[in-house]
Amino acid sequence: MGDELSSLNDIEQTDKRHVFGTWSFQSEVSPTQVVGGDGARFTTADGEEYIDFSGQLMCSNLGHSADGVADAIAEQAREGAYFAPGFTTEARARLGEKLADVTPGALTKTFFSTSGTEAVEAAIKIARFYTGKQKIISRYRSYHGATAGSISVTGDPRRLPAEPGVPGTIKAPDPYAYGSTLEPMESLEYIDEMLELEGDTVAAVLVEPIVGSNGILVPPEEYLPELKRIAHDHGALLICDEVMSGFGRTGEWFGSDVFDVTPDIMTMAKGLSGAYAPLGATIVTPEIADHFEDEMFCHGHTYAGHPVACAAGLAAVETYEERTSSSARARSATYSASDSRNSPRIIRASARRAASGFSAVSNSPGRPTNAFRSGSERTRSRRARRSWTKWQPAPAITASTSRT
Ligand SMILES: Cc1ncc(COP(=O)(O)O)c(C=O)c1O
Repeated sequence: MGDELSSLNDIEQTDKRHVFGTWSFQSEVSPTQVVGGDGARFTTADGEEYIDFSGQLMCSNLGHSADGVADAIAEQAREGAYFAPGFTTEARARLGEKLADVTPGALTKTFFSTSGTEAVEAAIKIARFYTGKQKIISRYRSYHGATAGSISVTGDPRRLPAEPGVPGTIKAPDPYAYGSTLEPMESLEYIDEMLELEGDTVAAVLVEPIVGSNGILVPPEEYLPELKRIAHDHGALLICDEVMSGFGRTGEWFGSDVFDVTPDIMTMAKGLSGAYAPLGATIVTPEIADHFEDEMFCHGHTYAGHPVACAAGLAAVETYEERTSSSARARSATYSASDSRNSPRIIRASARRAASGFSAVSNSPGRPTNAFRSGSERTRSRRARRSWTKWQPAPAITASTSRT
């Protein structure tokens, strides 16, 4: 630790001594002190300025100086920073209404939490309560969160130290042409067969519409609609985890929009507040919402619907709306003169092209340093295929690979 510490300033050393680094060998943690952010840039204590290409953990979707969001947080904190979930605030009610508006289809009623992990935990419980069934099918190349339930439905290696995990969590193959024995649409047939063979015991199929931290994997256009049909044919719900793919990161509001699919349950976090406050959300269809009119909604947190977080969320979503409509206006002005195609189609097509161009693939072995390397190494050449776990030296199986 001595050598490691000597390159760090006082704050970084104090942090390293007293704060756990996430998903890391603690001996290798080397925190960098950040002193500020402005727009797409942030500055470290040693004066270096960085361009924040990834928006931190794919969450600072509005950049680092969205004044409207900062003001909304300050105002709510002054008016009343916290009231228990049994009360409501204007920010919470309006954000619920706004999410019903911007999410696809008739999705209507939201449970608010404080992270993507919690949003997924709520989705799992809601699916189980609603269907009365226990099993959740998710996919190998996925990340859904860090707590007991959400890590059990996670497919990537971060799940392994937490196994055996919660019962009834089953993994399916991915629609990943380059790294799987199955072609993408064959992987769907496999899920169909799994649902058949599991009998009437599966509550939901849970997927990221476009896989995020396991490699930006874009399925074929017909995959998600077909998955929903197959799930429903077997009496299972479709849960779309939009924690990373939501709020403009695919060029649409949500990844589900790219495929014109309305899931039964959708999870959100990260960009929901532009990362200005910890906020997660789980939204459901009217049928599912109605179910809990006379059945107990057996779930909650002290910070469910936290006023300051909801104020941040409302301001963030309003900012997306403003920026989207002003950029759409600019685009249609540009295109109307020279091009008869309408601008939303152009945006959608370029979202698909951009997303499919970014599949991250690496075949080099070695200790994974982040989820992109760990989650995208397989190729269609059998010789080059390596299992994720074999990559890791024995102790590494108790730690994992990314810093989500
Ligand atoms: C798709 C997806 N679901 C859930 C999570 C967990 O979210 P959080 O880290 O906010 O708990 C993440 C985090 O990266 C994610 O990418």
